[in-house]
Order: sequence, then C-alpha cells, then structure tokens
Amino acid sequence: MTNSKFTSELDKKAHCVNKILQDILAGEGGIDENLKAPLRYTLEAPGKRIRSALVLWCCELVGGAANRDAEIAAAAVEIVHTYSLVHDDLPAMDDDDLRRGVPTCHKQFDEATAILTGDALLTLAFEILAKRIADPRVAVKLIARLAEDAGASGMIAGQVADLQAENTACDINILDHIHTNKTAKLFRCAAAMGAICGGADEVQFAGLCEYGLKIGLAFQIADDILDVSASSEQLGKTAGKDERASKCTYPAVVGIERARSIEERLTAEAASALAPFGAKANTLRELAGALLSRVK
Ligand code: IPE
Ligand code: IPE
Ligand code: MG
Ligand code: MG
Ligand code: MG
Repeated sequence: MTNSKFTSELDKKAHCVNKILQDILAGEGGIDENLKAPLRYTLEAPGKRIRSALVLWCCELVGGAANRDAEIAAAAVEIVHTYSLVHDDLPAMDDDDLRRGVPTCHKQFDEATAILTGDALLTLAFEILAKRIADPRVAVKLIARLAEDAGASGMIAGQVADLQAENTACDINILDHIHTNKTAKLFRCAAAMGAICGGADEVQFAGLCEYGLKIGLAFQIADDILDVSASSEQLGKTAGKDERASKCTYPAVVGIERARSIEERLTAEAASALAPFGAKANTLRELAGALLSRVK
C-alpha cells in the first residue's frame, strides 16, 4: 500500500468515526442542554482518530468486516481519549490553552465546565457500550477492558505518575511506566476491543494486544519528540511545553537520537506481533510505519 493510499484509508475511518460520534450525540436524548455545546465542541474538534480507527481495523482483520459493535467500541474509545485530553489540559494538570487546533475546553468555556464535560464524556462511553452492544456478554467484556486500561491500573495511573515525575530526576524505568500507562494501554485497549468485536481467538487476541501496546508506546515517544521538534501550528497544541514543565520525556531522559531508535525498535516489534496474520495485517503494518514518521 502506498503512503497516500494509507492516508486515505485513515481518512475514511476518521470520517466514519466522526459520523458515529455525531449520531451518538444526536441520539442520546437525555443530554442536558448545558452540556451539549461543550460535548460537541470537544468531540467534533479535528482529532486524528487513530485509536478508534485501530478498533475498526482490528475487528476487520479478525472478523472480515467492521461490524456495528466495533463502531460503538470505536466511539467509546474515542470518547474516553477525548475526556483524557480535556482533563490533561486543565490548569491543575498540564495547563494548556490549545488543543486540536482550537482553544482547550476550559479556555473556550470555563474550568468547571471542562471538569464536568470530562466527567460526562467518560460516563457516556460506558453508557453506549452498556446500551448499544448487541450481545450483553460482549458488552461486559468491552466495558471491563476499557475500565481497566483507562482507569486506576492504566491511563490514570500513568497520568498520576506523569505529574509526580515533573521536576524530578527521572530514569528510563519510570519513563517507561508513565508512557505505558498513560498512553500505550489505551492503544492496547483499542486493539483488544476491536479483536473482541471481531470474535478473535486467543492467539489473534494476544498478537493484537502486543501490537497495540508497542505502537502505543512508540506513539507517546513520537509525541515527546514532536513537542521539541514541531511547531504549535503543525501540532494544533502548544509545542515546547514539556521542557517548560520539566516533564519526564524520552528526549529529556535519553536524547532525541536514542528516542528515535527506541521508537523504531518498538515499531519493528509491533510488526513482528502481526506475523500470525500474514499479509492480511498489512494495514496495521502501514499504521505502525505511518505513526513512526508522523508530523502531527
Ligand atoms: C494526544 O493524542 C495525547 C497523547 C497520548 C500523546 P493524539 O495525538 O492522538 O491526539 P488527537 O486525538 O489526534 O487530538
Ligand atoms: C497525554 O500525554 C496522555 C493522556 C492524555 C492520557 P501528554 O500530556 O503528553 O499529551 P499532550 O502532549 O498534552 O497531547
Ligand atoms: Mg499530560
Ligand atoms: Mg498534556
Ligand atoms: Mg505530549
């Protein structure tokens, strides 16, 4: 697949996810009037939709096509990711003004609204899984997976460690713990949820989880590198902020060159985890490669 063919595949998936998110917002009849604007504002801002595309691709790979369950799971992952950004940007956390090319939720509205919008997003993700997945046994599996990887033993543990590590002498083990938890586990979760929706067997499930974790870690290393090497316009968020906040990042701890080589190794390991799928997994191989050379 050529690079431009892959980009258009990702665009198609992003388009599909945007449509599902719009349908969900329109279809959840009980959403309070005061929350409609910030929910729409945060969800409709132009995110890259990588985690949700990953759900759809993993379902396609094991099940032959992306089914309705995978669409709901993709939306749930994107909604949880969006909530994590709304809270990550708050003054008490990373204190950022720009996100996805527009003012952050607390800048556009106010701080209390941003906290509550995050709360509403997180609960909405679980509501749609509970109500819209056809088979309750599949719904419970998806809910358990997302709760675990996004919660106190996953993303939130990573966010806590990220804040604790500010202004401290951080080493590669602490760094690996932060990045694996705050970012890689949600990627693993996306792959796992797609695999569950597609009816994966144990070998397929394990391979996709390993792939998700490796590309997720590589993704956060690339995010750290872009923070020091790209512009705010390019990123749609404020560049250079990690150094100002004395964050524990790969460039700060091992330097850019070594960070790049670790990212390349992780990408190769992610590709190896796809070996059991043969050529059918080429889109996921393309994704791993595209994330390695991403510029935003
Ligand atoms: C940003 O994720 C947060 C990180 C884990 C680095 P993305 O770079 O996927 O953000 P969006 O969804 O495209 O805005
Ligand atoms: C964010 O990491 C991780 C989560 C939101 C869970 P960063 O703080 O590095 O993400 P950006 O750079 O603000 O997007
Ligand atoms: Mg952060
Ligand atoms: Mg941040
Ligand atoms: Mg960052």
